[in-house]
Amino acid sequence: MKSISFISPFLLGLIFSFPGQSQTTIAVETATYAIVLQADKENMLSTVYCGNKLDAPADYNGIAETSRYPQGNAGIYNNAYTPAGTWNLSEPAIQVTHADGNHSLDLKYVSHLITKPDANTSLTAITLQDPVYKLTVQLFYKTWNKENVIEQWTEISNKEQGPVVLQKYASANLYFSNKDFYLTSFQGEYLKELQPMEEKLLQGTRTIDSKLGTRAMLLASPNFMVSFGGPAKENSGTVMLGQLAWSGNFKLDFEVDSYKNLRLITGINPYEAAYTLQPGKSFKTPSLVYTLSNTGTGEASRQLHNWARKYRLLDGQGERLTLLNNWEATYFDFDENKLSGLFKDAKKLGVDMFLLDDGWFGNRYPRNNDNAGLGDWQENVKKLPHGIGYLVKEAKAAGVKFGIWIEPEMVNPQSDLYEKHLDWVIRQPQRPEKYYRNQLVLDLSNPEVQNFVFGIVDDLFTKNPELAFVKWDCNAVIYNAYSAYLNKNKIPQTHLYTEYVKGLYSVLERIRAKYPKVPMMLCSGGGGRADYEILKYFTEFWPSDNTEPIERIFLQWDYSYFFPSIAIDCHVTDWGKQPIKFRVDVASMGKLGFDIVAAKLSENDLAFCQQAIKNYNSFKDIVWHGDQYRLLSPYENTAAAIEYVSEDKSSALLFSYLHSNRFVINATERPIQLKGLDAAKKYAVKEINLYPGTKSTLEDGKIYSGDFLMNVGLNPDVNYGRTSVIIQINEVVK
Ligand code: GLA
Repeated sequence: MKSISFISPFLLGLIFSFPGQSQTTIAVETATYAIVLQADKENMLSTVYCGNKLDAPADYNGIAETSRYPQGNAGIYNNAYTPAGTWNLSEPAIQVTHADGNHSLDLKYVSHLITKPDANTSLTAITLQDPVYKLTVQLFYKTWNKENVIEQWTEISNKEQGPVVLQKYASANLYFSNKDFYLTSFQGEYLKELQPMEEKLLQGTRTIDSKLGTRAMLLASPNFMVSFGGPAKENSGTVMLGQLAWSGNFKLDFEVDSYKNLRLITGINPYEAAYTLQPGKSFKTPSLVYTLSNTGTGEASRQLHNWARKYRLLDGQGERLTLLNNWEATYFDFDENKLSGLFKDAKKLGVDMFLLDDGWFGNRYPRNNDNAGLGDWQENVKKLPHGIGYLVKEAKAAGVKFGIWIEPEMVNPQSDLYEKHLDWVIRQPQRPEKYYRNQLVLDLSNPEVQNFVFGIVDDLFTKNPELAFVKWDCNAVIYNAYSAYLNKNKIPQTHLYTEYVKGLYSVLERIRAKYPKVPMMLCSGGGGRADYEILKYFTEFWPSDNTEPIERIFLQWDYSYFFPSIAIDCHVTDWGKQPIKFRVDVASMGKLGFDIVAAKLSENDLAFCQQAIKNYNSFKDIVWHGDQYRLLSPYENTAAAIEYVSEDKSSALLFSYLHSNRFVINATERPIQLKGLDAAKKYAVKEINLYPGTKSTLEDGKIYSGDFLMNVGLNPDVNYGRTSVIIQINEVVK
């Protein structure tokens, strides 16, 4: 007799299987997708299907027998969590050294439990056990039905008499048996974060990884896209968008096996990461978060956006503050009076908040450049004789909120902190120090350092309860990885990378327990950090220090595959040669901010910005909470176009830009077909964000049906004279 279970509110409970008994089928389903696992007569658990959900759950039982792969390979490729050291010679998901020094591991299916915390989510927990050693592995699959999102992680429990060393401990081990796989990985460097690169996967393994410790995503990203059967397309084809939600070293292995199927093993990078698990203890891996779509990357992104806003990003369905930041306006050169002037500029501009950046702290070692002061979080008395409290009050008097920059995980060797607590610093005591931006990383595996970091934030809020915002930066990578704390406590040094990240999360957990709502921006010298674990604690993130607006069109496009616009901070700066309108229009596609000397704006530029901020306030709800459609890719066209549609389809926005001057007279010769509208509705179309003294070339208020706009389209008339255009599309209610 075969047994099957699938996620349904009607069939919940613990299901056991006994050796030699029937085969068990477990279907992890979302609204349109299913991952089917099956335990055979020997209780070996395999992935037998990743594809469209079947109408009749009983049909999942018959999937495995439809494949006829020749025998005689060196391993079983589709193991649900491949153990090392016994009969399976393919790349393992888990590799351990038992308490007695033995390296072998086998994992047999024991039971599974399906629970349904609410109507939209399910949690499947599958227990596997080594028949010889008392080591248990639990595979978890959490699904969000409507959004087609799956979060997968693993818990490894040591029930042996002595410590077990986890040499490798993946989060997920997936298997896809489609034909032809195309991987888009996102790699880059400082100012060139998240550059997409698509390649056809051929037999063998393609690895994307990071060993940078902190700021782990500087060169490579744990975000990826797999397209099945052909290169990824925006509106058709089956694609998977995934991310290892972990703010430290990661490894993504894409292996096309000898059957030309795809094995995907992702998790914490095993590099320098052997983890000793004491008896009675469990280790929980980070999560792999992914979504699948049969209608291309556009739908997959919208699924992730909806999921992130509703379930993951802090206050994802809430509001955000527009701001004026002083970093590029003053760098380290400011004092109380200068700042008071900037508060007034912020108010005049019309933003909600002023954000004071780097340079406000350090006395014995003043933070007047990036050589000194990091770690000494006391106001610099020369620059700020009356302290932060005074600034908060002054800002309030000027009519704006006040936010502040910190970089609490780091230290300059020229600081009191370094002199006082050398043992808190990650460094090899016998080797010369190696600096990244003149700084070193504090050892967050040490609970005292965790308290110190928590204290920086707690102190700021305790003294200044009206502080409205924190920008949390993290500029250095970890060189010379070594922890004095781990050494003192006889904990292996290979725990450092993992304990660092766990320590960081635990500090953030404490901060959020005490200050649940205060908006916080995650920054890492640009886009070195942004993942769906750390974003539980942050309302937004800084994608790159590169604010050149043409580059931003591409960057924001690429980030939008994985993150909703409400989470992406986009500031108008003086980078690039584009006019202010172009820069403001591009930044208006995310969470808008300014980092300019507002007082130096010409009369017309200022008037334009003031009106553009008013306009932004009128449409921000659609950008933050609506559905995003990537209409014209900057990679394939001289013009780029992005549309946002409100949930009820009553209003939409079309952003369009000329980003290349090659062979262009009119960049939008053809109309752009809109998406996501209601065909039966009538919409009035109006160009907004017009620069003073200019007129739209479009007929103001012209009415079209949704049907027309989606099938024929709308031409924003982007050309040399009109390099950026924003069009508001509002339902006409009679
Ligand atoms: C990093 C950030 C910038 C700014 C500086 C301050 O480079 O990305 O936005 O805050 O640090 O030193």
